[in-house]
Order: sequence, then structure tokens, then C-alpha cells
Amino acid sequence: MSIKNNNRRQFLQHSVLGLATAAFPGVLLAKKGQVNSRPSLGFNPDVEIEMTARQAQVPVLRNGPNTRVQKYYARLLKGPKNTLQHLKGNYLGPIINYEKGQKVRIYFNNGLKEPSIIHWHGLHVPQKSDGHPMYTIQPGERFVYEFEVMNRAGTSFYHSHTHELTAEQVYQGLAGMITVTDEQEQKLDLPRGKYDIPLVLQDRTFNKRNQLQYLHGMHGRMTGFLGDTILVNGKPNTEFSVKSRAYRFRALNGSNSRIYKLGWDDGTPLTAIGTDAGLLEKPETRPYIMLAPGERVDLWLDFSGRAVGSKLVMYSLPYAGAMPPMYEKMKKRKGGSSKGMEGGMGMMGGGGLAQGTKFPIVSFKVTEKISDSPKLPKRLVNFERLTGRDADNRHDPLPIAISMKPMRPMLNGKSFSMDRVLDFERVPLGSIKKIKIFHDHGMKKGEHGEEKGKMGMGGMKGGGMMLSMAHPIHLHGQQYQIVSRKAGGMRLDEYATVKEGFIDTGWKDTVLVMPGEEIEIIKPFQDFKGFFLYHCHNLEHEDLGMMRQFYVY
Ligand code: C2O
Ligand code: CU
Ligand code: CU
Repeated sequence: MSIKNNNRRQFLQHSVLGLATAAFPGVLLAKKGQVNSRPSLGFNPDVEIEMTARQAQVPVLRNGPNTRVQKYYARLLKGPKNTLQHLKGNYLGPIINYEKGQKVRIYFNNGLKEPSIIHWHGLHVPQKSDGHPMYTIQPGERFVYEFEVMNRAGTSFYHSHTHELTAEQVYQGLAGMITVTDEQEQKLDLPRGKYDIPLVLQDRTFNKRNQLQYLHGMHGRMTGFLGDTILVNGKPNTEFSVKSRAYRFRALNGSNSRIYKLGWDDGTPLTAIGTDAGLLEKPETRPYIMLAPGERVDLWLDFSGRAVGSKLVMYSLPYAGAMPPMYEKMKKRKGGSSKGMEGGMGMMGGGGLAQGTKFPIVSFKVTEKISDSPKLPKRLVNFERLTGRDADNRHDPLPIAISMKPMRPMLNGKSFSMDRVLDFERVPLGSIKKIKIFHDHGMKKGEHGEEKGKMGMGGMKGGGMMLSMAHPIHLHGQQYQIVSRKAGGMRLDEYATVKEGFIDTGWKDTVLVMPGEEIEIIKPFQDFKGFFLYHCHNLEHEDLGMMRQFYVY
């Protein structure tokens, strides 16, 4: 069905600056009330999974003791055998492979000693099955999810979304990958099976006894946690043995706040075939690709013609300007190296590996020569391109204003509230909205993007710019399309280190908004009523309240 035809246009008068809030007292009851603890009659699932979150001890590092983690265990009760793909000796949950159209039921048991709930990041599901923190369950309780897989083929992400504990629980291990396949994808000659490989990127810090170290207190929460050890699919120093052919690597940034600039050290460009939860219309080749927390990019890595024995290293290449000016200055003084950062940078969440520093992520060793390989398709899938004309509010976009006060990163000037929405956060079901995401540091309208060159330090007002940094903004529910990205608040030399790395042509659910940038998106609000969150996917920010919600009615 066409997204546009589905749009029952509704012209609603809303006051964008209106601070009127509507309260939903019933929402708070959902927390206590065992809302979804039993399966519904009349819903006949094709796939049934039992998932349990538990404490576990797993061998993350090669030597020494196991690491205490929190982990999703899963058991397939019904459905195709390949639905669950377990990763051995790992804190990551199994990869869940869905087919579009499947009806899914998941029993989630909380076997932890603290509250928890799972969110299916990227999937378009009913509010009740979206893992909204209002559904957080207590130890020993059960929550039942039921939904149909409506997404097109792509890569998604499941993780804890527990009220104010998201960052810590994801850090402890409560995360995993979801893939969806569909007919369109199966018609394409894409690498499949053992040539279709996950690439979950995360950073962690371990103590001498191999135990995970997280931030203590408020230190570092403003900039977010940055670990000194890079893990790929839950392991350090990952090396893949590959054949001389094309592979699909599904990169998922599951880090709390680290932004990767993916690229080959020798300058070979990178090709993407998908972003977030969907394949692109056609492949995009870039010198490097930026990947912020919550984002996914499906990479086409072709080792054809590479000699047996050759080794390629994928790096996070150096970039600047994603962090507040003070941080960037200190990083420069240290020559971008990780040495000696612990002191001052630690205070700002720098850890031993600064944001924007160069480091290797993963290496690939060509171990076998083969001659047949799929060819990169010229076109991938067709989908409708949304423009401002499809939105019922093209001249009056809904705002997502980013602002930071000390210890208080906010959206639209407010912190998260479980049971309140602003006037303009009420969206009629079936509408397609234009949304403008921008930084609001107490600057007056019209000041964005006017000053050239050195805006980062220049347009300082009320101290807001001091804290200006990049934020990955994620919206729950249906995927959206990006219609414009305007630079504005960064030094040009710094912006030049990131600007070619944004792939804005596909369906997205998370977009990296660099300091001063203004991004316009078009998002459909179809199929389901209820509360759909939008938040910063820097998980420390999210837990500090940098989250709001739309109420679809
Ligand atoms: Cu991946 Cu609301 O989050
Ligand atoms: Cu999400
Ligand atoms: Cu943020």
C-alpha cells in the first residue's frame, strides 16, 4: 500500500510554542498494572519466542576471568529454525531473523534483580509492544509482546528501554540485532548466509579483573560514556577471515555514545546498501561513513581481487567538532592521542579513547581465493520518496529543539515526562508530518547558520553553545526520510571532517545532528495510536531526560 494514499490528511491547528500539556493519568497505572502479562486470544503467531534477561558470566576478554554481564537468553517456541541465531560466549542476545508479514509473540521474563523492558528499535509496532518505559516490569514478572513485522528488509536493534536505566542496562549487555527480509530483498543477488555478517560496534571499559566499568555519578554523563576497548560482536580485536568476494556486513552502532567514522585506512571508499531499517534505492559510495549510536548501515564489502594473505583494517577515522568546544580543544592539545586523556577528559567522559580519535575497529584477512561473487546491483529497491508536499504541515514543521543546560540535556525545552505531552506533540493518526530538528541554545530565530567560519565559539549566548555537541536523534514508530540537512554551528574545518559521511537518502529512524545543524525529516504516523518516543540516542542523555513523546490519536 502506498504511504501517501494512506495519508488521510488532517489539518490540525497547533501552536508550536504552546506549552499547554495534556496529562494522561492512566499511563502511570500501566506501570503497576500488569498490562501485557498474558497472550491475547485471537492472535495467532507465526513466530513465538521466550526471552529472559538474566545476570551471566561470559568470556568477553581472551584471558583472565569471565565478565559479569546482563544478557538476553532466548528460546524459539514456534517458527522457522533460523529465527534465532545464538552468539556463543557472548553478552549480546541472539540475532533475531524475521520475515516481513510474520506475526510474532514474545514472552519476556525479567530474571534480573532490577526492573527492565525491551524495545525493538527500528520496528514499526503497536505502542503496547514498543517497549515504552511505562511498561517496565519488575523482577520475576513477565511481559508479552505481539506484533506483525511490517518493516521492509533491513537491520534493526533490540535493547533495554528501562526508565532511567537504559544506558546502564545496554552497557551491561542487554542488546541484540534484528534482521528483516522480504520479497524485494530476496529478488536481489545480495550476499547471503555466511556472507551476511553482523558488525555490532560497542565500546567498553574493563577493570583489572575483567569487569565492566561504567560511569560513576554524574561525571561524564553530559558527554556520554566512552570506553577504551572497542568490541565487535561482543569481542575485542576482531578479525574476520574472508574469501575474495563480496560480503554484506550489517554495522550497528550499539555503543552508548561513541560515534564512529567508518573507513579504510588506505582511503578505499565504502559502499552502503542500506541505512537503519531499510535497503537504499541504490548503493552509495563514500570516502567514510558516520555511524552514531542507534544507527545502522549495511555495508557492501568486496574483497574480490584481493590477494590471499592480504589484510584490511577498518578504522574509525579521526574527526572533530562532535563534542563541546572545551573537549575539542583539550583533544587537540593532546594531539588527538588517547594518552594522558584520562585526567581532564575523564571528567568530561573522555575515558582513554577520545570521541573523534582514530582507532582500528576490525580487520579482515583474505584467506581464500574464489572467483564467483555477486555483483553490486545498480539499483536495490523502490520506495516512495516523501517530500514537504506530502506533509500536512510543510510550512509549519513540528520542532525537535535540542538544548543543553548543565546536567540537563533537553528536547523542546523539556525533560521526559511519562504522562504528559505538549500540544504539538499530539499527532492525528494517519498524518504525515514534517519535523525540524535543530539546536536551540537560547539564540533568537534567524541566527542559525548566519555567521560563517567560527560559529562554534562565536554565537555564544547564555552559555548554551559551550555545551553544544552532536546528538543522534531517534524517533520510535515508522521510519522517516530526511529532506534537508543544513550546516550551521560548526567551524568549517571541523565540519569538513564529517560532512561526506552522512547517508540521508534512505529510510531512517536515527539521525546524527551535528552542532548547529538543522535537519528536516518527513515522518508518517500511521497504523497505531498511542505514545511514541523521540529521544537522543546518546544513552546517557536519554536517561538524563533528553526524551519526549508523540501522542498519536
Ligand atoms: Cu534505540 Cu527509544 O531507542
Ligand atoms: Cu527505538
Ligand atoms: Cu544527546
